[in-house]
Amino acid sequence: MSRRMRVVVTAGPTREHVDPVRYLSNESSGRMGFAIAAAAARKGHDVTLIAGPVGLETPRGVRRIDVTSAREMLAAARKAFRTADALFMAAAVADWRPARRLSGKWREKDKGAAVARLELVRNPDVLSRLTGGRLRPRRLVVAFALETADGVGRALRKMRSKGADFIVLNHPSVLGGEQTTVRILGADGSSRLLARRSKRTVAKALVALLSKLPG
Ligand code: CTP
Repeated sequence: MSRRMRVVVTAGPTREHVDPVRYLSNESSGRMGFAIAAAAARKGHDVTLIAGPVGLETPRGVRRIDVTSAREMLAAARKAFRTADALFMAAAVADWRPARRLSGKWREKDKGAAVARLELVRNPDVLSRLTGGRLRPRRLVVAFALETADGVGRALRKMRSKGADFIVLNHPSVLGGEQTTVRILGADGSSRLLARRSKRTVAKALVALLSKLPG
């Protein structure tokens, strides 16, 4: 086996609450991140999985931290990343949150208008906050991108601006499915297509990137 490494994986969506019972979120199932955590644990690594709200079982041998919002994910990831050798940022972090989280229910309807507005503010970019937008030697940082058009160009720009070593590009059609098609783009100029593979197989290939770290 390769050296036992401290691996942090984020997975699933975040929820950004409007009031105690309503929130903004997205379609992420968390399966890719959970598969990466499972694959890394099978290889004997020390794995911390930071999970948004998903209905998935914790993989064997994985330390799981449940979070709800992007800001909670940032706090948990920051702590875990301090001592980590690698980060797989598979979570679909919400880019926006309601400017205010109401303590009681949102009652716009009661005002009788047909249109209501919700003010949103930007969430922190978890990955950029952790990397400071720069590559750090001796740590592997893998980002994910979900693109509908001009996938490769947009993904490469994201990888560079967020300080990742690799970015895993996938298409919205894979959301929630068992099988997936991804392209793994590297800051080293590499590009590898994995077509119609199980998420388990893709996860294994991603965990194999750990061998790129100096021992
Ligand atoms: N990410 C993050 N914090 C955010 C948003 C995204 O850490 N607030 C991370 C994601 O986990 C992912 C990478 O940044 O690894 C790319 O996400 P993003 O830029 O949001 O792209 P997409 O979700 O693919 O698409 P879009 O550009 O439409 O947001």
